[in-house]
Amino acid sequence: MLEGTEGEKAIDISRLRELTKYITLDPGFANTGSCLSSITFMDGEKGILRYRGIPVQELAEESSFVETAYLLINGKLPNSNELNRFRMLLNDHSLVHEDMRTFFQNFPRQSHPMGILSSMVTALRSFYPALEGLSETEETTITLTRLLSKVRTMAAMSYKMSRGHMVVYPRPDLSYCANFLNMMFDSPVKHYHIDDDLVQALNVFWILHADHEQNCSTAAVRLVGSARVNLYAAISAGIAALWGPLHGGANQKVIEMLEEIQANGGDSRPFIERAKDKKDPFRLMGFGHRVYKTYDPRAKIMKAMCDKVLDKLHTHDPLLDIAVQLEEVARKDQYIIDHNLYPNVDFYSGIVLRALGIPTNMFTVMFAIGRLPGWIAQWKEDASDPNWKLSRPRQIYTGPNLSHYVLIKERG
Ligand code: SDX
Repeated sequence: MLEGTEGEKAIDISRLRELTKYITLDPGFANTGSCLSSITFMDGEKGILRYRGIPVQELAEESSFVETAYLLINGKLPNSNELNRFRMLLNDHSLVHEDMRTFFQNFPRQSHPMGILSSMVTALRSFYPALEGLSETEETTITLTRLLSKVRTMAAMSYKMSRGHMVVYPRPDLSYCANFLNMMFDSPVKHYHIDDDLVQALNVFWILHADHEQNCSTAAVRLVGSARVNLYAAISAGIAALWGPLHGGANQKVIEMLEEIQANGGDSRPFIERAKDKKDPFRLMGFGHRVYKTYDPRAKIMKAMCDKVLDKLHTHDPLLDIAVQLEEVARKDQYIIDHNLYPNVDFYSGIVLRALGIPTNMFTVMFAIGRLPGWIAQWKEDASDPNWKLSRPRQIYTGPNLSHYVLIKERG
């Protein structure tokens, strides 16, 4: 028996088959722990989320995305020297190899940015091979800093190139988040005004996405990383998993669902009925969660941020009204109540991104940039585990018993 620092209990079955010839079966791993981890704690019943013990609400209020990334990756908040050095490293590695631009130019214009991002992150290994003569720690520090900084630059670059616009380079005088917004929206003919409140909103957006224990994409990073592949390849696997509409792809699907409700007169009730109909594959996007059986603490902060950002921009988004109305109607429905379905992080996040001017097809890329520190921290925790093992699940076979090859002339 094992017990975690917050009282979660587990049965260690690592010798089960050896001792009993039995294995366990747990499709979707809803009841199966894959690792011991000291990075993020979630309590799905109480709606608790903490990074290295610090509540996400405090980090959203007090910290920056770069500082939170340092906390997740290094296990402690940085002092001012450590933070300045980390910021300097991120700046030094913020450019993308110029030869990578031909990659972007040769993707079809309508390519989904997540497919581009996953390919480009794998390609980083070709441009930045293993560094000779460095200790493993130095090599890992430079590699993870490169990833954190270049993924943000590549995302902005792919946006500019998808529109046939000039690429805007990162600036040494701007913070991580301000640089991203500037690279996305600055132009030679119309300078982008950097608004501190919008930069702060982006910091909070990425802090809320920074880690979430063993979710689908993090589990993918750990599983692929367990083969001792380089960090770029493991992260590329995480990006691919996050793309799925049941996972990080949901933030784009939420906006598409709200736009469909809007186009159908704004009444969400028919969509809630569809979500309850077992014959209809439609799901309420942005609702429900494998772990949270109460309100996702991130969704609460994201919802408040919608009002703050829209007020700052003196604008209104009718989709926010539809989202609020959908939540109110849904949370009164017995099916929704019985199934413990609440808004998750994706339900309101798209409204914030729309207000910042991010195109809908880049919403999941925004999730990926936010989740990068978490993926890196989780990969690093695995890689530094003295008991690091190749992940290789077993199965229960249900196929045919022994049969033999039949020559084609003898087949029916
Ligand atoms: C993220 O894991 C993480 O931490 C992920 C994440 C992170 O930060 O990494 O939090 C980010 O991925 C958030 C989730 C984003 N996805 C969506 O919003 C897509 C819509 N949500 C659902 O597809 C669903 O809620 C999941 C996939 C998120 C979780 O589903 P589970 O835990 O696999 O449960 P399930 O699919 O087996 O559903 C259990 C029951 C079923 O009904 P019954 O057959 O038992 O009667 O709940 C129903 C489901 O039909 N249900 C829903 C529903 N979600 C679950 N019914 C309608 N609409 C929904 N959204």
